[in-house]
Amino acid sequence: MNNKVLDEEIVEQKKYMQKVKSIIKKGFYYIETMGCLLNENDSEKIEGMLVNMGYEKIDDYSKANVAVLNTCCIRENAENRVFGKLGAMKQYKKDGLIIAICGCMPQEKHIVNKMHESYNFVDIIFGTHTIYRFPELLFNVIDTNKKAENVIDIDGQIVEGLPIKRNDKYKANVTIMNGCNNFCSYCIVPYVRGRERSRNIEDIIAEIKELAINGYKEIILLGQNVNSYGKDLNDANSIFANLLYRINKIEGIEIIKFLSPHPKDFTDDVIHAIKECEKVHKVLHLPLQSGSTNVLKAMNRKYTKENYLNLVNKIRTEIPEVAFTTDIIVGFPGETEEDFQDTLDVISQVKFEQLFMFIYSRRVGTIADKMENQIPEDVKSERFTRLKKLADSIVFETGEKYIGTIQNILVDGISKNNDKMLTGRTNSGRIVNFEGKIDLIGQNVYIKIISNHGWYLKGNIAEN
Ligand code: SAH
Ligand code: SF4
Ligand code: F3S
Repeated sequence: MNNKVLDEEIVEQKKYMQKVKSIIKKGFYYIETMGCLLNENDSEKIEGMLVNMGYEKIDDYSKANVAVLNTCCIRENAENRVFGKLGAMKQYKKDGLIIAICGCMPQEKHIVNKMHESYNFVDIIFGTHTIYRFPELLFNVIDTNKKAENVIDIDGQIVEGLPIKRNDKYKANVTIMNGCNNFCSYCIVPYVRGRERSRNIEDIIAEIKELAINGYKEIILLGQNVNSYGKDLNDANSIFANLLYRINKIEGIEIIKFLSPHPKDFTDDVIHAIKECEKVHKVLHLPLQSGSTNVLKAMNRKYTKENYLNLVNKIRTEIPEVAFTTDIIVGFPGETEEDFQDTLDVISQVKFEQLFMFIYSRRVGTIADKMENQIPEDVKSERFTRLKKLADSIVFETGEKYIGTIQNILVDGISKNNDKMLTGRTNSGRIVNFEGKIDLIGQNVYIKIISNHGWYLKGNIAEN
Protein backbone atom coordinates (compact mmCIF):
# COMPACT_ATOMS: atom_id res chain seq x y z
CA MET A 1 0.00 0.00 0.00
CA ASN A 2 1.45 3.40 -0.88
CA ASN A 3 1.54 6.31 1.56
CA LYS A 4 -1.39 8.14 -0.01
CA VAL A 5 -3.67 5.11 0.22
CA LEU A 6 -2.52 4.59 3.79
CA ASP A 7 -3.23 8.22 4.69
CA GLU A 8 -6.75 7.80 3.31
CA GLU A 9 -7.11 4.63 5.40
CA ILE A 10 -6.24 6.57 8.54
CA VAL A 11 -8.82 9.23 7.71
CA GLU A 12 -11.34 6.41 7.30
CA GLN A 13 -10.37 4.88 10.65
CA LYS A 14 -10.71 8.24 12.38
CA LYS A 15 -14.33 8.27 11.19
CA TYR A 16 -14.82 4.86 12.83
CA MET A 17 -13.33 6.25 16.05
CA GLN A 18 -15.99 8.98 16.03
CA LYS A 19 -18.74 6.45 15.29
CA VAL A 20 -17.72 4.28 18.25
CA LYS A 21 -17.53 7.31 20.49
CA SER A 22 -21.01 8.44 19.56
CA ILE A 23 -22.43 4.99 20.35
CA ILE A 24 -20.65 4.18 23.59
CA LYS A 25 -20.44 7.73 25.01
CA LYS A 26 -18.16 6.43 27.76
CA GLY A 27 -16.50 3.11 28.55
CA PHE A 28 -13.50 1.42 30.10
CA TYR A 29 -10.65 -0.51 28.53
CA TYR A 30 -8.13 -2.95 29.88
CA ILE A 31 -4.92 -3.71 27.98
CA GLU A 32 -2.11 -6.12 28.65
CA THR A 33 1.13 -6.03 26.70
CA MET A 34 2.81 -9.40 26.70
CA GLY A 35 5.82 -8.88 24.46
CA CYS A 36 8.82 -6.68 23.76
CA LEU A 37 9.13 -2.89 23.58
CA LEU A 38 7.88 -2.94 19.99
CA ASN A 39 4.73 -4.54 21.27
CA GLU A 40 4.57 -1.94 23.99
CA ASN A 41 4.81 0.83 21.41
CA ASP A 42 2.00 -0.83 19.43
CA SER A 43 -0.06 -0.91 22.64
CA GLU A 44 0.50 2.80 23.10
CA LYS A 45 -1.03 3.34 19.65
CA ILE A 46 -3.96 1.01 20.42
CA GLU A 47 -4.52 2.93 23.67
CA GLY A 48 -4.35 6.21 21.75
CA MET A 49 -7.18 4.96 19.52
CA LEU A 50 -9.21 3.69 22.51
CA VAL A 51 -8.93 7.04 24.29
CA ASN A 52 -10.06 8.77 21.08
CA MET A 53 -13.06 6.46 21.00
CA GLY A 54 -14.12 7.59 24.48
CA TYR A 55 -12.65 4.81 26.60
CA GLU A 56 -10.80 5.26 29.86
CA LYS A 57 -8.15 2.87 31.13
CA ILE A 58 -8.70 0.57 34.11
CA ASP A 59 -6.50 -2.13 35.63
CA ASP A 60 -9.23 -4.67 36.25
CA TYR A 61 -10.66 -6.48 33.23
CA SER A 62 -13.70 -7.69 35.16
CA LYS A 63 -14.91 -4.06 35.13
CA ALA A 64 -13.90 -3.27 31.54
CA ASN A 65 -16.01 -2.96 28.38
CA VAL A 66 -13.11 -3.84 26.10
CA ALA A 67 -10.08 -6.00 26.99
CA VAL A 68 -7.11 -6.12 24.64
CA LEU A 69 -4.36 -8.72 24.88
CA ASN A 70 -1.36 -7.63 22.80
CA THR A 71 0.39 -10.94 22.47
CA CYS A 72 3.92 -12.32 21.96
CA CYS A 73 4.96 -15.70 20.58
CA ILE A 74 8.72 -15.59 21.00
CA ARG A 75 8.65 -18.59 23.38
CA GLU A 76 6.05 -21.16 24.31
CA ASN A 77 5.49 -19.78 27.81
CA ALA A 78 4.50 -16.39 26.32
CA GLU A 79 1.73 -18.15 24.37
CA ASN A 80 0.57 -20.20 27.33
CA ARG A 81 0.09 -17.03 29.37
CA VAL A 82 -2.38 -15.77 26.76
CA PHE A 83 -4.45 -18.94 26.83
CA GLY A 84 -4.49 -18.84 30.64
CA LYS A 85 -5.65 -15.25 30.61
CA LEU A 86 -8.40 -15.93 28.06
CA GLY A 87 -9.70 -18.74 30.25
CA ALA A 88 -9.94 -16.33 33.17
CA MET A 89 -11.62 -13.61 31.10
CA LYS A 90 -14.31 -15.82 29.59
CA GLN A 91 -16.67 -15.53 32.59
CA TYR A 92 -17.00 -11.75 32.05
CA LYS A 93 -18.39 -12.19 28.54
CA LYS A 94 -21.84 -12.42 30.14
CA ASP A 95 -21.36 -8.82 31.37
CA GLY A 96 -20.73 -7.68 27.80
CA LEU A 97 -16.91 -7.70 27.84
CA ILE A 98 -15.48 -7.43 24.31
CA ILE A 99 -12.22 -9.39 24.06
CA ALA A 100 -9.61 -8.48 21.44
CA ILE A 101 -6.44 -10.45 20.67
CA CYS A 102 -3.72 -8.77 18.67
CA GLY A 103 0.05 -8.65 18.27
CA CYS A 104 2.31 -11.44 17.12
CA MET A 105 0.29 -14.58 17.98
CA PRO A 106 -2.53 -13.97 15.47
CA GLN A 107 0.12 -13.90 12.71
CA GLU A 108 0.53 -17.67 13.25
CA LYS A 109 -2.06 -19.73 11.37
CA HIS A 110 -2.14 -22.60 13.86
CA ILE A 111 -2.86 -20.14 16.67
CA VAL A 112 -5.76 -18.52 14.84
CA ASN A 113 -7.15 -22.01 14.16
CA LYS A 114 -6.85 -22.83 17.85
CA MET A 115 -8.67 -19.59 18.71
CA HIS A 116 -11.51 -20.48 16.35
CA GLU A 117 -11.80 -23.99 17.74
CA SER A 118 -11.27 -23.60 21.47
CA TYR A 119 -11.59 -19.88 22.23
CA ASN A 120 -14.42 -18.86 19.96
CA PHE A 121 -15.65 -16.34 22.54
CA VAL A 122 -12.86 -13.98 21.42
CA ASP A 123 -14.55 -11.09 19.58
CA ILE A 124 -11.74 -9.39 17.69
CA ILE A 125 -8.55 -10.81 16.19
CA PHE A 126 -6.03 -8.64 14.36
CA GLY A 127 -2.35 -9.00 13.55
CA THR A 128 0.75 -6.83 13.50
CA HIS A 129 0.25 -5.41 10.00
CA THR A 130 -3.19 -3.87 10.49
CA ILE A 131 -3.25 -2.32 13.94
CA TYR A 132 -4.74 0.85 12.48
CA ARG A 133 -7.89 -1.07 11.46
CA PHE A 134 -8.82 -1.66 15.11
CA PRO A 135 -11.48 1.15 15.26
CA GLU A 136 -13.34 -0.39 12.30
CA LEU A 137 -13.21 -3.87 13.84
CA LEU A 138 -14.44 -2.60 17.20
CA PHE A 139 -17.22 -0.62 15.54
CA ASN A 140 -18.38 -3.72 13.65
CA VAL A 141 -18.52 -5.79 16.84
CA ILE A 142 -20.46 -3.12 18.72
CA ASP A 143 -22.76 -2.44 15.77
CA THR A 144 -23.55 -6.00 14.69
CA ASN A 145 -22.67 -8.08 17.73
CA LYS A 146 -20.69 -10.35 15.40
CA LYS A 147 -17.01 -11.22 15.51
CA ALA A 148 -14.43 -9.27 13.52
CA GLU A 149 -11.06 -10.39 12.23
CA ASN A 150 -8.25 -8.84 10.21
CA VAL A 151 -4.97 -10.69 9.85
CA ILE A 152 -2.92 -10.27 6.70
CA ASP A 153 0.42 -11.68 5.62
CA ILE A 154 1.44 -8.73 3.47
CA ASP A 155 3.97 -6.45 5.14
CA GLY A 156 2.12 -3.38 6.33
CA GLN A 157 3.95 -0.06 6.33
CA ILE A 158 4.56 1.70 9.61
CA VAL A 159 1.51 3.88 9.89
CA GLU A 160 2.07 7.57 10.55
CA GLY A 161 -0.41 9.84 12.25
CA LEU A 162 -2.15 7.47 14.66
CA PRO A 163 -3.05 8.92 18.05
CA ILE A 164 -0.72 7.64 20.75
CA LYS A 165 -1.11 7.47 24.51
CA ARG A 166 2.37 7.39 26.02
CA ASN A 167 2.82 5.44 29.22
CA ASP A 168 5.64 7.60 30.45
CA LYS A 169 6.12 11.34 30.79
CA TYR A 170 9.85 11.37 30.57
CA LYS A 171 10.96 8.59 28.26
CA ALA A 172 9.40 7.65 24.93
CA ASN A 173 9.53 4.61 22.68
CA VAL A 174 10.03 5.48 19.04
CA THR A 175 9.75 2.64 16.53
CA ILE A 176 12.18 3.31 13.66
CA MET A 177 11.61 0.11 11.72
CA ASN A 178 9.42 -2.92 11.64
CA GLY A 179 10.15 -6.53 10.75
CA CYS A 180 13.32 -8.55 10.39
CA ASN A 181 15.25 -10.07 7.46
CA ASN A 182 17.67 -12.17 9.46
CA PHE A 183 15.82 -15.44 9.92
CA CYS A 184 17.86 -16.64 12.87
CA SER A 185 16.87 -20.28 12.69
CA TYR A 186 15.23 -20.40 16.16
CA CYS A 187 13.21 -17.20 15.81
CA ILE A 188 9.56 -16.64 14.92
CA VAL A 189 9.81 -12.85 14.54
CA PRO A 190 10.48 -12.69 10.75
CA TYR A 191 7.34 -14.80 10.22
CA VAL A 192 5.07 -12.67 12.39
CA ARG A 193 6.49 -9.20 11.75
CA GLY A 194 7.42 -9.51 8.08
CA ARG A 195 10.41 -8.03 6.26
CA GLU A 196 12.37 -4.96 7.36
CA ARG A 197 10.61 -1.70 6.65
CA SER A 198 12.23 1.51 7.84
CA ARG A 199 10.34 4.68 8.61
CA ASN A 200 11.15 7.80 6.71
CA ILE A 201 13.95 9.60 8.60
CA GLU A 202 12.09 12.93 8.51
CA ASP A 203 9.02 11.35 10.15
CA ILE A 204 11.22 9.97 12.94
CA ILE A 205 12.97 13.30 13.51
CA ALA A 206 9.64 15.16 13.51
CA GLU A 207 8.22 12.76 16.11
CA ILE A 208 11.27 13.18 18.38
CA LYS A 209 11.27 16.98 18.04
CA GLU A 210 7.66 17.01 19.13
CA LEU A 211 8.46 14.72 22.06
CA ALA A 212 11.24 17.09 23.12
CA ILE A 213 8.84 20.05 22.99
CA ASN A 214 6.50 18.06 25.24
CA GLY A 215 9.17 17.54 27.87
CA TYR A 216 10.47 14.09 26.96
CA LYS A 217 14.13 13.62 27.84
CA GLU A 218 14.87 10.03 26.94
CA ILE A 219 14.26 8.35 23.58
CA ILE A 220 14.40 4.60 23.00
CA LEU A 221 14.71 3.77 19.31
CA LEU A 222 13.04 0.46 18.57
CA GLY A 223 13.37 -2.18 15.89
CA GLN A 224 14.24 -5.88 15.68
CA ASN A 225 17.55 -4.94 14.13
CA VAL A 226 18.04 -1.19 14.56
CA ASN A 227 21.49 -0.94 13.07
CA SER A 228 20.22 -2.13 9.72
CA TYR A 229 17.87 0.87 9.75
CA GLY A 230 17.47 2.38 6.28
CA LYS A 231 18.93 -0.48 4.25
CA ASP A 232 15.57 -0.82 2.51
CA LEU A 233 15.32 2.92 1.78
CA ASN A 234 18.30 3.22 -0.58
CA ASP A 235 19.13 6.72 0.57
CA ALA A 236 22.65 7.52 1.78
CA ASN A 237 21.31 9.88 4.45
CA SER A 238 18.82 7.43 5.90
CA ILE A 239 21.20 5.16 7.77
CA PHE A 240 21.41 4.35 11.48
CA ALA A 241 24.60 6.34 12.21
CA ASN A 242 23.12 9.42 10.59
CA LEU A 243 19.90 9.02 12.54
CA LEU A 244 21.91 9.06 15.79
CA TYR A 245 23.78 12.24 14.78
CA ARG A 246 20.53 13.97 13.90
CA ILE A 247 18.72 13.01 17.11
CA ASN A 248 21.78 14.00 19.12
CA LYS A 249 21.27 17.58 17.91
CA ILE A 250 17.66 17.82 19.08
CA GLU A 251 17.42 20.27 21.94
CA GLY A 252 15.77 18.91 25.09
CA ILE A 253 16.61 15.27 24.43
CA GLU A 254 19.19 14.10 26.96
CA ILE A 255 19.48 10.34 26.54
CA ILE A 256 19.26 8.21 23.38
CA LYS A 257 19.00 4.44 23.70
CA PHE A 258 18.26 1.77 21.10
CA LEU A 259 17.12 -1.87 21.03
CA SER A 260 18.22 -4.23 19.56
CA PRO A 261 21.29 -3.94 17.39
CA HIS A 262 22.64 -7.04 15.65
CA PRO A 263 26.38 -7.74 16.03
CA LYS A 264 26.71 -8.37 12.28
CA ASP A 265 25.57 -4.81 11.47
CA PHE A 266 27.78 -3.06 14.01
CA THR A 267 29.77 -1.19 11.37
CA ASP A 268 32.48 1.38 12.09
CA ASP A 269 30.23 4.33 11.27
CA VAL A 270 27.77 3.13 13.95
CA ILE A 271 30.57 2.77 16.52
CA HIS A 272 31.83 6.26 15.70
CA ALA A 273 28.35 7.74 15.96
CA ILE A 274 27.86 6.17 19.40
CA LYS A 275 31.24 7.55 20.45
CA GLU A 276 30.72 11.05 19.07
CA CYS A 277 27.11 11.58 20.12
CA GLU A 278 27.34 12.50 23.79
CA LYS A 279 23.63 11.78 24.35
CA VAL A 280 23.86 8.18 23.17
CA HIS A 281 23.79 5.87 26.13
CA LYS A 282 27.03 3.96 26.53
CA VAL A 283 25.47 0.70 27.72
CA LEU A 284 24.99 -1.37 24.59
CA HIS A 285 22.82 -4.41 24.18
CA LEU A 286 24.77 -6.86 22.04
CA PRO A 287 22.83 -10.13 21.78
CA LEU A 288 25.29 -13.03 21.79
CA GLN A 289 22.81 -15.98 21.78
CA SER A 290 25.65 -18.52 21.88
CA GLY A 291 29.42 -18.39 22.29
CA SER A 292 30.00 -21.39 20.03
CA THR A 293 30.89 -20.77 16.41
CA ASN A 294 29.21 -24.05 15.41
CA VAL A 295 25.97 -23.19 17.16
CA LEU A 296 26.06 -19.61 15.83
CA LYS A 297 26.34 -21.03 12.33
CA ALA A 298 23.36 -23.33 12.88
CA MET A 299 21.49 -20.35 14.35
CA ASN A 300 22.28 -18.34 11.17
CA ARG A 301 23.66 -15.47 13.24
CA LYS A 302 26.39 -14.61 10.66
CA TYR A 303 29.24 -14.08 13.16
CA THR A 304 31.67 -16.37 14.95
CA LYS A 305 32.85 -16.45 18.57
CA GLU A 306 36.00 -14.60 17.45
CA ASN A 307 34.06 -11.97 15.45
CA TYR A 308 31.95 -11.25 18.50
CA LEU A 309 34.91 -10.94 20.88
CA ASN A 310 36.79 -8.78 18.38
CA LEU A 311 33.78 -6.51 18.05
CA VAL A 312 33.56 -6.12 21.84
CA ASN A 313 37.27 -5.26 21.99
CA LYS A 314 37.02 -2.82 19.13
CA ILE A 315 34.10 -0.99 20.74
CA ARG A 316 35.92 -0.97 24.10
CA THR A 317 39.02 0.53 22.49
CA GLU A 318 36.97 3.29 20.86
CA ILE A 319 34.64 3.91 23.83
CA PRO A 320 36.46 2.92 27.05
CA GLU A 321 33.46 3.64 29.34
CA VAL A 322 31.15 1.28 27.40
CA ALA A 323 29.31 -1.60 29.14
CA PHE A 324 27.45 -4.47 27.49
CA THR A 325 24.25 -6.38 28.13
CA THR A 326 23.24 -9.49 26.22
CA ASP A 327 20.75 -12.26 25.40
CA ILE A 328 21.68 -15.94 25.64
CA ILE A 329 19.83 -19.06 24.47
CA VAL A 330 20.73 -22.42 26.01
CA GLY A 331 19.85 -25.79 24.58
CA PHE A 332 19.71 -24.91 20.88
CA PRO A 333 19.48 -28.14 18.80
CA GLY A 334 22.84 -29.90 18.62
CA GLU A 335 24.46 -27.81 21.37
CA THR A 336 27.20 -29.98 22.92
CA GLU A 337 28.79 -29.55 26.33
CA GLU A 338 31.80 -28.07 24.50
CA ASP A 339 29.57 -25.55 22.70
CA PHE A 340 27.99 -24.62 26.01
CA GLN A 341 31.45 -24.10 27.53
CA ASP A 342 32.16 -21.62 24.71
CA THR A 343 29.12 -19.62 25.79
CA LEU A 344 30.34 -19.59 29.39
CA ASP A 345 33.78 -18.57 28.14
CA VAL A 346 32.49 -15.53 26.23
CA ILE A 347 30.43 -14.47 29.26
CA SER A 348 33.50 -14.70 31.49
CA GLN A 349 35.56 -12.70 29.04
CA VAL A 350 33.09 -9.91 28.23
CA LYS A 351 31.70 -9.50 31.78
CA PHE A 352 28.25 -8.29 30.88
CA GLU A 353 26.40 -5.73 32.92
CA GLN A 354 23.15 -7.71 32.55
CA LEU A 355 22.19 -10.97 30.89
CA PHE A 356 18.78 -12.07 29.65
CA MET A 357 18.83 -15.86 29.54
CA PHE A 358 16.38 -18.16 27.79
CA ILE A 359 15.89 -21.88 27.41
CA TYR A 360 15.49 -22.68 23.71
CA SER A 361 11.81 -23.00 22.82
CA ARG A 362 10.66 -24.75 19.63
CA ARG A 363 8.64 -22.46 17.36
CA VAL A 364 6.42 -23.95 14.67
CA GLY A 365 7.55 -22.93 11.18
CA THR A 366 11.17 -22.13 12.04
CA ILE A 367 14.17 -24.02 10.64
CA ALA A 368 15.46 -25.04 14.08
CA ASP A 369 12.14 -26.67 14.93
CA LYS A 370 12.73 -29.15 12.12
CA MET A 371 16.24 -30.06 13.30
CA GLU A 372 16.51 -33.63 14.53
CA ASN A 373 19.10 -33.11 17.25
CA GLN A 374 16.81 -31.43 19.80
CA ILE A 375 18.27 -31.28 23.30
CA PRO A 376 16.39 -33.15 26.08
CA GLU A 377 14.60 -30.90 28.60
CA ASP A 378 16.67 -32.10 31.57
CA VAL A 379 19.95 -31.24 29.80
CA LYS A 380 18.60 -27.80 28.85
CA SER A 381 17.53 -27.00 32.38
CA GLU A 382 20.75 -28.30 33.92
CA ARG A 383 22.75 -26.04 31.57
CA PHE A 384 20.46 -23.14 32.35
CA THR A 385 21.20 -23.59 36.07
CA ARG A 386 24.95 -23.48 35.43
CA LEU A 387 24.57 -20.48 33.13
CA LYS A 388 22.54 -18.67 35.77
CA LYS A 389 25.21 -19.36 38.40
CA LEU A 390 27.95 -17.86 36.25
CA ALA A 391 25.72 -14.90 35.32
CA ASP A 392 25.02 -14.28 39.04
CA SER A 393 28.72 -14.05 39.78
CA ILE A 394 29.49 -11.84 36.76
CA VAL A 395 26.64 -9.49 37.57
CA PHE A 396 27.87 -9.30 41.17
CA GLU A 397 31.37 -8.56 39.93
CA THR A 398 30.25 -5.80 37.55
CA GLY A 399 28.02 -4.40 40.33
CA GLU A 400 30.93 -3.66 42.65
CA LYS A 401 31.92 -0.51 40.77
CA TYR A 402 28.65 1.17 41.75
CA ILE A 403 29.37 1.19 45.48
CA GLY A 404 29.92 4.74 46.67
CA THR A 405 28.68 6.29 43.41
CA ILE A 406 25.72 8.64 43.13
CA GLN A 407 23.11 7.57 40.59
CA ASN A 408 20.29 9.56 39.04
CA ILE A 409 17.26 7.28 39.34
CA LEU A 410 13.74 7.61 38.01
CA VAL A 411 11.60 6.10 40.80
CA ASP A 412 9.50 3.30 39.25
CA GLY A 413 7.46 2.20 42.26
CA ILE A 414 7.54 -0.01 45.34
CA SER A 415 10.06 -2.85 45.39
CA LYS A 416 8.54 -6.24 44.54
CA ASN A 417 10.44 -8.03 47.29
CA ASN A 418 10.19 -5.47 50.08
CA ASP A 419 7.20 -3.17 50.34
CA LYS A 420 9.11 -0.76 52.57
CA MET A 421 11.52 0.06 49.77
CA LEU A 422 11.17 2.08 46.58
CA THR A 423 12.77 0.90 43.37
CA GLY A 424 14.21 2.32 40.17
CA ARG A 425 17.00 1.62 37.71
CA THR A 426 20.38 3.10 37.00
CA ASN A 427 21.08 4.32 33.51
CA SER A 428 22.71 0.98 32.85
CA GLY A 429 19.53 -0.85 33.81
CA ARG A 430 20.54 -2.05 37.30
CA ILE A 431 17.76 -2.24 39.87
CA VAL A 432 18.32 0.05 42.85
CA ASN A 433 16.23 -0.28 46.03
CA PHE A 434 16.10 2.46 48.64
CA GLU A 435 13.90 3.84 51.41
CA GLY A 436 11.78 6.84 50.56
CA LYS A 437 8.33 8.38 50.63
CA ILE A 438 5.79 6.98 48.21
CA ASP A 439 5.21 10.38 46.58
CA LEU A 440 8.67 10.13 45.01
CA ILE A 441 7.27 7.61 42.50
CA GLY A 442 7.61 9.09 39.03
CA GLN A 443 10.32 11.55 40.09
CA ASN A 444 14.06 11.59 39.55
CA VAL A 445 16.21 11.31 42.67
CA TYR A 446 19.93 11.05 43.41
CA ILE A 447 20.79 7.85 45.22
CA LYS A 448 24.11 7.01 46.85
CA ILE A 449 24.80 3.30 46.38
CA ILE A 450 25.76 1.62 49.64
CA SER A 451 25.75 -2.09 48.83
CA ASN A 452 25.81 -4.53 45.94
CA HIS A 453 23.54 -7.60 45.94
CA GLY A 454 24.20 -8.81 42.40
CA TRP A 455 20.97 -8.35 40.45
CA TYR A 456 20.10 -5.31 42.55
CA LEU A 457 21.87 -2.52 44.42
CA LYS A 458 20.86 -0.78 47.63
CA GLY A 459 21.24 2.91 48.30
CA ASN A 460 20.16 5.98 50.22
CA ILE A 461 18.74 9.22 48.97
CA ALA A 462 21.74 11.53 48.60
CA GLU A 463 21.78 14.84 50.44
CA ASN A 464 21.24 17.73 48.01
N1 SAH B 1 15.81 -8.83 17.49
C1 SAH B 1 16.41 -9.02 18.73
C2 SAH B 1 15.68 -9.90 19.72
C3 SAH B 1 14.40 -10.46 19.48
S1 SAH B 1 13.73 -11.59 20.58
C4 SAH B 1 17.75 -9.61 18.48
O1 SAH B 1 18.05 -10.12 17.45
O2 SAH B 1 18.51 -9.56 19.42
C5 SAH B 1 14.56 -11.42 22.11
C6 SAH B 1 15.36 -12.60 22.49
O3 SAH B 1 14.57 -13.74 22.64
C7 SAH B 1 16.41 -13.03 21.48
O4 SAH B 1 17.55 -12.23 21.54
C8 SAH B 1 16.68 -14.44 21.90
O5 SAH B 1 17.67 -14.51 22.88
C9 SAH B 1 15.36 -14.89 22.52
N2 SAH B 1 14.67 -15.86 21.66
C10 SAH B 1 14.22 -15.69 20.41
N3 SAH B 1 13.66 -16.83 19.94
C11 SAH B 1 13.78 -17.76 20.93
C12 SAH B 1 13.42 -19.12 21.05
N4 SAH B 1 12.84 -19.79 20.06
N5 SAH B 1 13.69 -19.75 22.21
C13 SAH B 1 14.30 -19.09 23.23
N6 SAH B 1 14.65 -17.81 23.16
C14 SAH B 1 14.41 -17.13 22.03
FE1 SF4 C 1 14.78 -12.90 15.63
FE2 SF4 C 1 17.25 -12.89 14.74
FE3 SF4 C 1 15.51 -11.14 13.78
FE4 SF4 C 1 16.39 -10.89 16.28
S1 SF4 C 1 17.63 -10.73 14.43
S2 SF4 C 1 14.28 -10.75 15.58
S3 SF4 C 1 16.63 -13.00 16.91
S4 SF4 C 1 15.43 -13.35 13.52
FE1 F3S D 1 7.30 -11.13 21.00
FE2 F3S D 1 6.50 -10.17 18.73
FE3 F3S D 1 8.18 -8.78 20.22
S1 F3S D 1 7.00 -12.27 19.12
S2 F3S D 1 9.33 -10.36 21.27
S3 F3S D 1 6.12 -9.33 20.74
S4 F3S D 1 8.11 -8.87 18.00
